[in-house]
Amino acid sequence: MPLDPREFSELLYQALETELGGVQLYRAAIEVATNDGLREEWTKYLEQTTRHVELVTGVLEALGLDPNDETPGREVVRHLGKALVKAIELARASGNEDAAQTVAAECVTLAETKDHLNWELLGMASRSLTGQGARALREAHEEVEGEEDEHLYHTTGWTRELWLAALGLPAVLPPPEERRKVTTAIGAARAKQARGEMSPKAKRVAARR
Ligand SMILES: [Fe+2]
Ligand SMILES: [Fe+2]
Repeated sequence: MPLDPREFSELLYQALETELGGVQLYRAAIEVATNDGLREEWTKYLEQTTRHVELVTGVLEALGLDPNDETPGREVVRHLGKALVKAIELARASGNEDAAQTVAAECVTLAETKDHLNWELLGMASRSLTGQGARALREAHEEVEGEEDEHLYHTTGWTRELWLAALGLPAVLPPPEERRKVTTAIGAARAKQARGEMSPKAKRVAARR
């Protein structure tokens, strides 16, 4: 079945806007990270996300599309991205450093859910794409796919464990998803299930380091 060209370009523009918003979001999140391991992880993700911006821009250009064109969907994605950055700033202003870090982790998880979906769809679409741009998209997808899995599953794990630590419940930091280098939904589910046996010191691990 041929791809719907309008919807396909809409998805690409939304993917670009998601990555652009991701760069802003990681900058804000790094500012409020109090855990050294998490700050390191987000710094790596910021570098990768900056590269993703270049890759999507390259795919759009290879398809003869102007990366600066606006679409209604792109505007929505930008709005959501700005709201996430604003949420981190609000949490930061409250003065509770650990709570601000957890808010940032939640915001990154929300943004990465969209980012992950975009690339999953782009990978599927690339298999139906022919002609100009098809190769650029396949190469970009190949480079990005594993990183997006990591962004989503690892940050989801951090968010859960930071909350557990805040609640005074046994927390595993860094989270099992990161320790096990999870890159699939099944792997994430298994890591979560095994978390109870992962750290003898799991009880009341402080959110900081
Ligand atoms: Fe990305
Ligand atoms: Fe991502």
